[in-house]
This record gives sequence, C-alpha cells and structure tokens, in this order.
Amino acid sequence: MANSNLVRKQYHERLVLDVMEVQDSRGTFAEDVARGLAASPKSLPPKYFYDEQGSLLFEQITELEEYYLTRTEAGMLAAHGHDMLAAAGDPLTLVELGSGSSSKTRLLLDILAKRQARVDYVPIDISPTVVTEFGEQLLNDYPSLHIRGLICDYHQAMGELKSESHGRRLFLFLGSSMGNYTPQQAVRLLRVVREAMGPQDRLLLGLDLKKDAAVLRRAYDDAKGVTAAFNLNLLARINRELGGRFELERFRHKAFYNEEQGRVEMHLESLVSQLVPVNGLQRSFSFKNGETIHTENSYKFDRQGLREILEPCALAIQRQWLDHRRWFSLNLIEPV
Ligand code: AVI
Repeated sequence: MANSNLVRKQYHERLVLDVMEVQDSRGTFAEDVARGLAASPKSLPPKYFYDEQGSLLFEQITELEEYYLTRTEAGMLAAHGHDMLAAAGDPLTLVELGSGSSSKTRLLLDILAKRQARVDYVPIDISPTVVTEFGEQLLNDYPSLHIRGLICDYHQAMGELKSESHGRRLFLFLGSSMGNYTPQQAVRLLRVVREAMGPQDRLLLGLDLKKDAAVLRRAYDDAKGVTAAFNLNLLARINRELGGRFELERFRHKAFYNEEQGRVEMHLESLVSQLVPVNGLQRSFSFKNGETIHTENSYKFDRQGLREILEPCALAIQRQWLDHRRWFSLNLIEPV
C-alpha cells in the first residue's frame, strides 16, 4: 500500500479492502442532471444507469436472447481461457476494472487455481458492497484465493498500482465496457493503465465488434423491453433522488446504430412537448415533441479502430481471439 490516503479494512483473513476517497471532479448526480438537461442537445452520463434498480435491469439485459455480448465473451473465456492465461505468463495476479459479479472472472480463476498455489485477485469498484458480497462467495469457492479490493475510481486505482512493487499482473477490462467511453476518454484511461503496467504485465480487453446494424439494434432494443426499462430508469432515478416529475409514458426508448461514428446510440425521446419540474434542482426543463436526451454510446470496434486508441498509449495487440461469428473480440494487449 503506497498511498497514505488509503484506508485498509480487513474483512476476512483473505479479503482486504483499500478504500480511497473518490475525488470525483466530474460532479454529482444533481449537477450532472442540471447541466445535461439544460444543454442542447440534452444528454446524461451513462454511469448513472447503475443504481440498484438499474444494476438489476442490466443483469437481466445480459441474459437476453438479443444481447449476445455477455454470452459470447463468456463462451470465449471458457474455450480459450487457457491460451489467454498462457500467453499472459506465469504466475499471475488478476486486476479487474469494474468487477461486477465477477462471473466471467470465475472462468479465469478456475484455471489459475489449478495452475498456481496462491491466486491474487484485485477487483476495482466504487462500491464496497459489491466487492465484499461477491468476494465472500469467491473465497468460499476458491480456497487459495486472496482478494484485495480497491474501492475507488479506475484512475485512482491505476495511480496506486503504479507505485507498488509487484509480480506479473493481468489487467482485465471485460464486457466491452470501454465501448461506453468516447475515444478520447478511452485513450485517457488506457494511458493510466499503461503507466501502471510493468513490462511483463498484460491487459485483456473484451470489445464488441462492428457488425450488421440490425443485429446491433436488436441487442439494444430487445423485444421484452428490458433495455427500454433500463434506459427509462434514468428518469425514474431523477424522480426518486431529485424530486423529478417525469411521467415515463411520455418518453420512449430509442436505440440505433450510427454507422458514421461506429456506435450504438441510446436516447430517451419526448413524445409530446412538455415542461418537467425537478423539485430538488428548483427548476423545470422543457422538451419539444421529438426532442431526445442522449443517454449512452456503445462504440463497436474493428482491428484498426482498436489500434488507433492503443497507439497513442504505447500499447499494442499481442493476440486477438474472435468467436466463430466474429461478433466479439478478446484482445491481449502488451506495453510497447
Ligand atoms: C455496460 N455496457 C458495456 C453495456 C453496452 O453494451 O454498452 C451497457 C448497455 N446498454 C444497453 N444495453 C447494455
């Protein structure tokens, strides 16, 4: 532990949490909503999808027939995990950006637990509850596992990991989460990951690929309406937390593939012209009929697109795995 601003909490003999105060200069929910809804065009940051309700809806999305991403990536980890870990070297500590339920990580832990006497896992998450709840389940299932949760944002975590002496590490950034970053944000994050990496460290990056627009649209506008509920939950969250008066029936979920930008866009479209008060912000926001709030981008990659964000960060593709449909990629990235 190199940073004295970290508070260490021992939860279990094999589970510690290093908690760092989140220095979020990007503003609070209230500030971001006030700014985003007053702007033209209107937008809201996608990180606000994931309150308790939104996280449950996202779990349901990952199980949808149309949402092939999670299933495809998990299948690839199950089929090629041995190769991926062999290519990353031995022995390995896993460092995961955005651990979530760690379900895909288990596929890698299964292999590591057979390969090394001790397995170290460093999940990075802003929620201590996520890490302790899933961490305890992992400890029950893997007797040789030691978990050190880093409770902070990714930039802070990389700053901390950079200053520590360490063995060989494999950073994991799965689920095409990087697709929700703009290319500029992706480069900013990859630069700090690169700075934290030693010459023997690697990054395993799961990214969704460019494909037929109809397949992409269905994945983000499913027949059961789960993704619509996930998107609309953002308005429900403003109602719950900021005293908003959004009537959800007066908005609709809209998702489409923007070919030129190479990304799926999600919006909330106002179905009427309306004025919506948000009491906690002491103001109202007007919507024209058909006006949208841009809530998410989900960038889709090809090899060239990936190279373009890796190159400015002194990173390169060491190996790439694709599924049989060539819909999803797992990329082992090395420092150069
Ligand atoms: C978390 N992230 C990678 C998801 C995606 O596919 O962009 C979020 C999501 N939005 C709608 N469906 C899933």
